[in-house]
Amino acid sequence: MLDTFVSIGDTLKEIRETKGFQLQEVAKETAINYTILSRIETGKRLPTKPQVQNLANFYNYSEEALIKHLISDKILNEVQSEDFGLEGFHLAEQKIKYGLSLFNDYKHLEKFELHSRRYIGNKAKLTEWIMKIIQKETTGTGTFIDIFSGTAIIAKEAMKTYKNVVLNDILYSNNIVYQAFFDNKKWSSKKIIDIVNEYNILNPKEIKENYFSKNFGGKFYEKDISKLIGHIRQDIENRKDKLNSKEYAILLTSLIYTIDRLANTVGHFDAYIKKPIAKRSLNFRLIQTQDFAGAKIYRDDSNKLVRKLKGDVAYIDPPYNSRQYSRFYHIYENLVQWEKPKLYGVALKPEPDNMSKYCTVQAKNAFKDLVENLDVKYLAVSYNNTYKSKSKSSANKIKLEEIIEILNKLGETKIYEQSHKFFSTGKTDFNDHKEFLFLTKKYD
Ligand SMILES: C[S@@+](CC[C@H](N)C(=O)[O-])C[C@H]1O[C@@H](n2cnc3c(N)ncnc32)[C@H](O)[C@@H]1O
Repeated sequence: MLDTFVSIGDTLKEIRETKGFQLQEVAKETAINYTILSRIETGKRLPTKPQVQNLANFYNYSEEALIKHLISDKILNEVQSEDFGLEGFHLAEQKIKYGLSLFNDYKHLEKFELHSRRYIGNKAKLTEWIMKIIQKETTGTGTFIDIFSGTAIIAKEAMKTYKNVVLNDILYSNNIVYQAFFDNKKWSSKKIIDIVNEYNILNPKEIKENYFSKNFGGKFYEKDISKLIGHIRQDIENRKDKLNSKEYAILLTSLIYTIDRLANTVGHFDAYIKKPIAKRSLNFRLIQTQDFAGAKIYRDDSNKLVRKLKGDVAYIDPPYNSRQYSRFYHIYENLVQWEKPKLYGVALKPEPDNMSKYCTVQAKNAFKDLVENLDVKYLAVSYNNTYKSKSKSSANKIKLEEIIEILNKLGETKIYEQSHKFFSTGKTDFNDHKEFLFLTKKYD
């Protein structure tokens, strides 16, 4: 049992020695410089928060306990040489209790960017490549349609060039993200920061079990974290009347981004990792909004929506295998809709809803119908060749040749390709994974 009244340096040293590690070994495994580590242990410098998190993870030791040590040492450093240090410290304690926070300036807060989230099939690493080709091969800067927007990483890039950008996805949790980041509505950062400051001083020990913690606690999220998530989600709902739609979306989206990194998963919610979950703090953070006057936001079935749109370029990046996004991200869908449905199975999913035709045998016909009905000058279609894969669920529903045949009938089609790291939850042996981009100039 470690003594409470020792420094973070002594604490880290004691944990290391108890676990039987040499300093050099720890430096190598955590990639923290040996000299820095030695100076931390001997109290010559304080570690940073990421260093403490890294060490807690390496030693499999409570991150919460170490962070508390770090904070107390930082405070001690500040106040110990001051004449009125202790009085100042007590005053700060009162201010925190009354919800006063130093972080009241949205501009200077540390925030999440749009890409800071895990999402299967996102094109974050290919954005530059895709947009360069589109820019080289097309004309017109009026309307860009990203019909399967996902994370909206491509749509965001298109906002640099096009006057209007259409964002669409069938998921509720993606739609709320688009409203939060891009909707041009006015919102009060002061109001939101006050609420977030309240969330960041919540003590899970004082919070009751709730729908979220009862279902997902100890599975997809650590128990205390899951209590906080359920409590905060309900609180956002209770405040809905006093928030406008942008403020409501910002809070929900910030909750999604905050908990994304705390999930006990490999990046989606088809399963959770069956190992004890390390304790961590919630640390609710806001997103970095980027209002865009030309954002047209929808949550519609792609094939219904295209019949109502007109534009210069349509970017098309549907799912190509049987894995339904509404099932992969069922926890975010549940959280955003907040209808607290009954859940089933080991992964605690609700009844199937919002299922995509693109993940079924109807995929080819759906794709053909989509591109034929898009009123645009150019089509840019992303495709990856996972159909050669041995696993059935990751086999493509539309073959490469079929896409080419469909597109060739509509216009002159160029094919671009690039090697790209393959995503698979299993052990698919598939090395020559390629990303394709088809660029079709439609016949008049
Ligand atoms: C491959 S992901 C798109 C990734 C995106 N380009 C990005 O960079 O994040 C496909 C998206 O299509 C959505 N989707 C699937 N079927 C749909 C449909 N029929 N209508 C609209 N969206 C659909 C899924 O929810 C998913 O987010």
